[in-house]
Amino acid sequence: MQRLTTRNGLDLPCIGLGTWPMTGDACTRAVHQALELGYRHIDTATAYANEAAVGQALRDSSVPREQIHLTTKVWWDRLEPKAMRQSLEDSLRALGTEQVDLFHIHWPAKDWDLARSIETLVALRDEGKARCIGVANFPLGLLRRVVEELGAPLSAIQVEYHVLLDQQPLLDYARQHDMVLTAYTPLARGRAAEQAVIREIARKHGVLPSQVALNWLLDQAGVAVIPKASCRDNQLANLAALEVRLDDADRALIAGLPKGQRVVSPDFAPDWNS
Ligand SMILES: NC(=O)c1ccc[n+]([C@@H]2O[C@H](COP(=O)([O-])OP(=O)(O)OC[C@H]3O[C@@H](n4cnc5c(N)ncnc54)[C@H](OP(=O)(O)O)[C@@H]3O)[C@@H](O)[C@H]2O)c1
Repeated sequence: MQRLTTRNGLDLPCIGLGTWPMTGDACTRAVHQALELGYRHIDTATAYANEAAVGQALRDSSVPREQIHLTTKVWWDRLEPKAMRQSLEDSLRALGTEQVDLFHIHWPAKDWDLARSIETLVALRDEGKARCIGVANFPLGLLRRVVEELGAPLSAIQVEYHVLLDQQPLLDYARQHDMVLTAYTPLARGRAAEQAVIREIARKHGVLPSQVALNWLLDQAGVAVIPKASCRDNQLANLAALEVRLDDADRALIAGLPKGQRVVSPDFAPDWNS
């Protein structure tokens, strides 16, 4: 599988397994199965309440830990230095590992000491608890502050991105600053595959609509995807999305889809245009 690398050490398989909202044994089974099928990138978070289940799958699997890229995240109510440190310690214990490969701030908080949180994030990387660091759900203005004012060596930004949502400004910025953009909810939870345009392109190539949606993302330099799939067929289909070959006519049709359809925007979300 292709890997996305950055100068500051990120080495990310371009397709990962999203694990929300799986928990318990079902999550362990799905992650174990994905590793058997060839996935080497798993996305979890403290907020998913499944890190112990992911950790169990890692232990059950014959794939060595060093071959697996593991991302976790700290929730927005634990961004004070002490709380963030404790959150990562808790994650490491639950996952049964001494280091995660990528540690994200999951959402920006409101009225917070951004500089102190970012300082702590960087310190955790410097101490080796996280190989690389990143942020999720940061709008462009906030990301610029973190990178340009605070000088944080971010390797990745994780945001919602799919055929029904434009993220070009963030993607341009990520590329300019040697960051990977990880597309979460890359299938728009099924809405992408419902689009007539996507279905038509899939028919033309003899592939699945979901594979068209994923390949459109994977075709873009610096973009990784983390579709959540629990069943074997979907996990396999998503891996095979890499083999689809979209042409310019397909891309033009996809460009014409309405691009403002955000699936994930909880009440604590930032102003996306800030
Ligand atoms: N950073 C953040 O704030 C954030 C927010 C949301 C999500 N995420 C991450 O992103 C991951 C993925 O996002 P998501 O779960 O919201 O949405 P998604 O990946 O767009 O959609 C998941 C849904 O698509 C189905 N599916 C998967 N592969 C399929 C295929 N080949 N054909 C048909 N259906 C398929 C899954 O069904 P089955 O399970 O039945 O296979 C599941 O119902 C999450 O698991 C999480 O790790 C991060």
